[in-house]
Amino acid sequence: MSISKNITVLGSGIMGHGIAQVSAMAGYNVILRDIDLILLNKALDKIKWSLSKLAEKNKITQIESETIFKRITPEINLEKSLAGTDFIVEAVPEDLEIKRKLYAEVDRFADEEAIYASNTSTLPITEMAALTKRPDKFIGLHFFNPPQLMRLVEVIPGRETRPETTKSVLDFVKQLGKESVLCKKDVVGFIVNRIFIPLVHEAAYFLDRDGVTMTQLDSAVKYKMGYPMGIFELADYTGLDVIYKATLEMYARDKKVINPHPRIKQLVDCRYFGKKTGRGFYEYSSNSYERINLTSEEAEKYNPIGLVATAANNAAWLISNNVCTKADLDKALNLGMGLKTDLFETVKQFGVKNVLTKLNEMSAKYGPRYEPNPHIGTYEDK
Ligand code: 3HC
Repeated sequence: MSISKNITVLGSGIMGHGIAQVSAMAGYNVILRDIDLILLNKALDKIKWSLSKLAEKNKITQIESETIFKRITPEINLEKSLAGTDFIVEAVPEDLEIKRKLYAEVDRFADEEAIYASNTSTLPITEMAALTKRPDKFIGLHFFNPPQLMRLVEVIPGRETRPETTKSVLDFVKQLGKESVLCKKDVVGFIVNRIFIPLVHEAAYFLDRDGVTMTQLDSAVKYKMGYPMGIFELADYTGLDVIYKATLEMYARDKKVINPHPRIKQLVDCRYFGKKTGRGFYEYSSNSYERINLTSEEAEKYNPIGLVATAANNAAWLISNNVCTKADLDKALNLGMGLKTDLFETVKQFGVKNVLTKLNEMSAKYGPRYEPNPHIGTYEDK
């Protein structure tokens, strides 16, 4: 079944408003549903801002921007939001209880054939599908922040997802002009978050261990690891509340995949959620798009080999467990996190042996979670 021109996005937060916008940009009529008008108005303001940025950069014309905006209809009433829709993208907060209540309602009102796609960052697709009456038409559809600029979408079938559902959703991603990677197993963190979320915690540990400053570490991530942002900068940009929730979910399901650092919880307890609240790891002066000043000079003051090593170890786990191919891993990190250099190329630049030595050292000091995955040893130094 192909997805018609009418879709519904449930949740209008950072991801929901962006997904609604990119869908409208691809010609879909979108109903954007949230529980109150204040949230919806904020979302519409963000969409307006983003469309005007894209028009400013000649990616779309002013007239297109207005047409796109008109394709998005805000709605509070859930039943109304689902009428005549055959594709529902859910992007509500990452709380299984909230999702359980929502899917029970959605099941009452949605068209029988409608596909449910969840933009969950880390919740298991098979478990969420079981909350609904249609696990065969349920799938993970994971966008990256900001959906307007990031070209990747991870597609994660659950155990009972029918191949037709996966095909329809892969076609939908293509219609959006985005690239998909298929996450072949419903594993904790899928592909990108399995690397990104643990890295934020590791970076916090390296601050303590290596006596480095945040901007030195972040500059090294940007200038020596080929990331477009520093890791703390990216964490603030993504939202520490989002990262903390993802951490809890990942840790609850697999203690080996992540080593939670208490700093993230402390910041979240203080409601320092990052860029959106004006404070996270860094402090921000305004609500608008703002970057941290990172420099190549600062980068020279820190060797981020420990971060390269932990990212490579998680990536190696994904490949050796057949969750994705090396080519899909590179595509995912390039289009989902903006990495300019393929991860294992960076490993080679730092030296495969040096990376293995670092992991062995960390494993001896901090536990078997850091034991090197044998896949790393299959690469050779340049
Ligand atoms: N819509 C339109 N334009 C936007 C925008 C949006 N939503 N957000 C930012 N822009 C604009 C900015 O205003 C800026 O415009 P300007 O040139 O007029 O100032 C321009 O885009 C970007 O400029 P930058 O100089 O900051 O450019 P970059 O080259 O660094 O690109 C970026 C920005 C694409 C965000 C890049 O830094 C990047 O790829 N960062 C990494 C993002 C990432 O990793 N996302 C994934 C996080 S993990 C995730 O989302 C999963 C979840 O489950 C946790």
